[in-house]
Amino acid sequence: MAEPTPDTTREETERIRALQDKEAPRYDRQMDFFDRVLFVGGREWACSRLEGEVLEIAVGTGRNLPLHRVEVSLTGIELAPEMLAIAKQRATALNREANLRVGDAQALDFPDASFDSVLCTLAFCTIPDPGAAAREVFRVLRPGGLFALLEHVRSPVRAVRAVQRTIEPLTIRFEGDHLTREPLEYLDAAGFEVTELERSKWGIVERVAARKPG
Ligand SMILES: C[S@@+](CC[C@H](N)C(=O)[O-])C[C@H]1O[C@@H](n2cnc3c(N)ncnc32)[C@H](O)[C@@H]1O
Repeated sequence: MAEPTPDTTREETERIRALQDKEAPRYDRQMDFFDRVLFVGGREWACSRLEGEVLEIAVGTGRNLPLHRVEVSLTGIELAPEMLAIAKQRATALNREANLRVGDAQALDFPDASFDSVLCTLAFCTIPDPGAAAREVFRVLRPGGLFALLEHVRSPVRAVRAVQRTIEPLTIRFEGDHLTREPLEYLDAAGFEVTELERSKWGIVERVAARKPG
């Protein structure tokens, strides 16, 4: 696939925002199924590794809000205002203090080295330029800071990968969802050191903890 340029990224970012705004009312019902079948325990795994000042990128409808430990101070950004509105309602219902706002993971509106940990679940598949997002996460993390990810990725099993490649044009077109990305490539290029890596479900589901060298 062609490398993103500033113009293609801007266009695709607007397309994703519109798609996700439309998706927002249905998102939780759909994700209930996938969280049970594919990602079970993954959100808990990622949230348990976070400490101090935490940034969650692409918070969606705030499905991780109940899982963040009470002692962390939480900031969250999300591209699609309709998704964010649901996340805010969820934070209120949970009585969870969090600074939730619209933002773009590819150009974070925070100074360098402002967070101890960053979380991203199931969004590296949708962010138009994941390389830019990885570089931004690296920039806003303090030295020694941790990036925790839960993601569906390109399977190392050839038959599964073939199915992913076949249906990917449709998932990209209708949901902005890339099935054959591998976040480790972007983390490595950004300068992260992977400290934990777990694969499951024919290699489709990946849990990663990576540190910014400190
Ligand atoms: C599949 S949803 C995952 C939501 C949430 N992280 C979760 O685990 O349920 C992908 C989310 O990424 C968001 N997203 C896509 N591109 C983004 C960007 N450039 N910056 C911030 N959020 C983005 C979408 O709007 C959508 O809410």
